[in-house]
Amino acid sequence: MFIESVSFENYRNLVNADFFPSKGINVLYGDNAQGKTNLLEGMWLLTGGRSFRGAKDRELIQFGQSYAKVKACFRTAQRRHKIEILIQNGKRKAFLNGIPKDGLSQIIGIFCAVIFSPNHLTLVKNGPEERRSFIDGALCQIKPSYAVLFGRYRKILNQRNALLKAIYQNPSLADTLDVWNERLSHEGALIAQQRYAYLDRLAALSAQFYDGISDSREKLGLAYQTGYGAETGMSLEEIQHLLLKVLKTKQNEDIVLGYTSRGIHRDDMTVRIDGREARKFGSQGQQRSAVLAMKLAEASLLGQAKGESPVIFLDDVLSELDAARQDYLIHRLHDRQVFITCCSFDMEARNKVHIQNGKMTETEEA
Ligand SMILES: Nc1ncnc2c1ncn2[C@@H]1O[C@H](COP(=O)(O)OP(=O)(O)O)[C@@H](O)[C@H]1O
Ligand SMILES: [Mg+2]
Repeated sequence: MFIESVSFENYRNLVNADFFPSKGINVLYGDNAQGKTNLLEGMWLLTGGRSFRGAKDRELIQFGQSYAKVKACFRTAQRRHKIEILIQNGKRKAFLNGIPKDGLSQIIGIFCAVIFSPNHLTLVKNGPEERRSFIDGALCQIKPSYAVLFGRYRKILNQRNALLKAIYQNPSLADTLDVWNERLSHEGALIAQQRYAYLDRLAALSAQFYDGISDSREKLGLAYQTGYGAETGMSLEEIQHLLLKVLKTKQNEDIVLGYTSRGIHRDDMTVRIDGREARKFGSQGQQRSAVLAMKLAEASLLGQAKGESPVIFLDDVLSELDAARQDYLIHRLHDRQVFITCCSFDMEARNKVHIQNGKMTETEEA
């Protein structure tokens, strides 16, 4: 899919700007603080997600104004869509092909994109939670049924946690825990199995991308890791059995803690470079390449599931790579719409756009 046109009104420093991107690679260049990231952030809103900078909606409105608007036309394999987003009075409104939608969640899945900004380095650097939500987020975009399953697990987990606290006060309730152990391990196994399947494919593709980025000098290895002995290739029954076992063994500890200390809500994905954990031993450059490889793999899998490539946003990522790695990326991504921000102009691309003080000017077209 690709964006044909996008226009901004009072969106941060994009006071009144129109942009007609090319179908392939768009390089957005300019000095610092001119609006490059703002432009990516505004286009990202079309996915229905929140600002990838973690900004609040009201921060997106131009200083001194009361509303901000982003309008875009984009094409999918099936048709042409129009999305309009209005941010006003602390609320967002979305119009899809002229029809008002209750919330932005209703447009999720129509415009698909993957973003990589320097913030995303936390995916390697931080704790397991970010890696889990990366996998869960990717699976939700691919399969809405995963979001339903995940919600069900959360609910059962909360109920088990509430019960653990009640048992602490009143030990005679302990018998009732069995049924929750059973249900939690059942739903948990379904989730673990889908995460394993996704990670198998993500690991293979990320390793390929990393190979290209590092010029085959290093190997990236991703693996799903659990605290209950599950392994890739196990059947649903085997995983459920292990989950049930750990819930039962840890039951008394859990009652004292007041929460469920083991289960798929504690799982992690290890990111290794040449066998060593990237979080602890990786250089900044290796961590960046690892996240880039994972994001590109995520985009490919999303593209396979949807039948067409999502749009890719790369914010301030490429300038850190040397020319050979930039070339590799540009060649791997040439067949999809990509937006790359950087400070310098010298990059091979069909469409180069100069951004200055919130205004875009096209400088070259091949
Ligand atoms: N709500 C806002 N209203 C007006 N200008 C804003 C707003 N938020 C940020 N800016 C301006 O946007 C500029 C930063 O844009 P950004 O896209 O982050 O720059 P860069 O080109 O370096 O990526 C700064 O000049 C900042 O003052
Ligand atoms: Mg920026």
